[in-house]
Amino acid sequence: MSLDQSLSKILIVDFGSQFTQLIARRIREIGVFSEIISHKKLKINNFDDTIKGIILSGGPLNVYQIKKYSFDKKVLNLNIPVLGICFGHQILSKLNGGKVKQSKHREFGLANIYKKSDSLLTTNFFNKKKLNKVWMSHADQVSKLPKNFNVVASSINSKFAVVENKKKNFYGVQFHPEVTHTQNGKKIISNFIFLICKVKRNWTPKDQRKQLIKQVGNQVGSNKVICALSGGVDSSVVAQLLNKAIGKNLYCIFVNTGLLRKNEEIEVVKTFKKRLKMNLIYVNAEKEFLNKLSNVTDPEKKRKIIGNLFIKIFERYAKKIKDVKFLAQGTLYPDLIESKSVTGSQTSKIKSHHNVGGLPKRMKLKLIEPLKFLFKDEVRKLGLELNLSKDIISRHPFPGPGLAIRMPGLITHEKIKILKEADYYFIQALKDHGLYHKIWQAYAALLPVKTVGVMGDNRTYEYLCLLRAITSEDGMTADFYEFKKSFIQTISNKIVNNIRGINRVVYDVTSKPPSTIELE
Ligand code: XMP
Repeated sequence: MSLDQSLSKILIVDFGSQFTQLIARRIREIGVFSEIISHKKLKINNFDDTIKGIILSGGPLNVYQIKKYSFDKKVLNLNIPVLGICFGHQILSKLNGGKVKQSKHREFGLANIYKKSDSLLTTNFFNKKKLNKVWMSHADQVSKLPKNFNVVASSINSKFAVVENKKKNFYGVQFHPEVTHTQNGKKIISNFIFLICKVKRNWTPKDQRKQLIKQVGNQVGSNKVICALSGGVDSSVVAQLLNKAIGKNLYCIFVNTGLLRKNEEIEVVKTFKKRLKMNLIYVNAEKEFLNKLSNVTDPEKKRKIIGNLFIKIFERYAKKIKDVKFLAQGTLYPDLIESKSVTGSQTSKIKSHHNVGGLPKRMKLKLIEPLKFLFKDEVRKLGLELNLSKDIISRHPFPGPGLAIRMPGLITHEKIKILKEADYYFIQALKDHGLYHKIWQAYAALLPVKTVGVMGDNRTYEYLCLLRAITSEDGMTADFYEFKKSFIQTISNKIVNNIRGINRVVYDVTSKPPSTIELE
């Protein structure tokens, strides 16, 4: 499985390290394509000459738990350069006749390593004093080097911190060059790729645009494709990519659920239909959604109703376009990486996520997922390369169920109207104060309680508006953003003064966990 059959790449064999995705990203940042494969799936007959180098990742196992990490060792006899990182370094040594044992002194965190001999791998890596600070995270270590291996660098506790077998092009590092704490760590990776594997750069946003347009065009031919467009980053990039590749054979369906942000539907039509000249079908389903949601207060019921109705409407419109063969989705690489479960990570079901890209299986359409080899930051860069505006590319995430899950309790016309205004003022203020891009996601919510206030000489009895603004890497964990008092004061005044229906504003100061980002 690869993006392009002729694209040179570095294959990362994952043994369950928390840093495996980071290795892939570092290589791509350098401008070379990389793919991750679980050690369980690594087979010599999957190999072809596009694989120019192999990286064995770290992992939570130890080399003597052989049953737990199976992998086809024959891949090490293909004359392809290999770099082992941490656990990968230990396996490489062990398989070549070396020994690994529990370290007397475990090393976690920063350690100094000292240069012992020259190596292509460490070209321009050490400082003038021939040392470097690196990030260690291991309890085992190589205790005896295999034959024909040299020591390149040592730390106080790890004699074999960097080793090589020059003839075979095997390299091992006990530390993690992929994490930013390792000083100059990227140099190790780029030396391995450019000096040892001798790969050329092939992975810029421009390369990706050309490749993907060509690939999608070949895959789809003259058939019709439908795509659920939400206006979010991923579906916008998918739609624009297909638009460039197949033009009018792409049919984008945009469903206005009535639970979108203020003016969202106007903006989407303006951008995609008018500016980018896409074949966009605008479906106004406000009434249908609100009817189905009337009297529903349970968060999970809300989510299910919205998800199901969305699919029903999407199917209804898809049927109207005859002879559709493909459904385009914005699946990204992290959704695809099978080896996530190697670490045994569990994600218990907290909320039923509904994504507008959700696949109606009954439709029997073939899937195209042109972004499935890209990380989020790559999708953003590709979007810019495809001429999408910065506004679209750097938008905060917005959940499929929209304002419904930012309005605990009953969903009414009146509450939606109030909430759209409050959210608009908040987001606008963030943009005006240069804060929007410092924050990962921000929104206003309307709580189902009324409180007493006083405006002028009159008593008010109105809703409570909650503001949430968080910083995060990927939405899995989050922290609340620390605003200055003056900003909080300004936005609170603006909301209360301008929106009838809100007389009190509170700021959510919980992180995730224990809270979630959305309220429901
Ligand atoms: P939670 O509330 O689970 O949210 O901490 C994490 C991230 O996911 C977004 N989110 C959704 N996105 N469909 C989506 O496409 C959904 O049903 C959904 N629910 C939550 C949320 O906005 C945040 O960015």
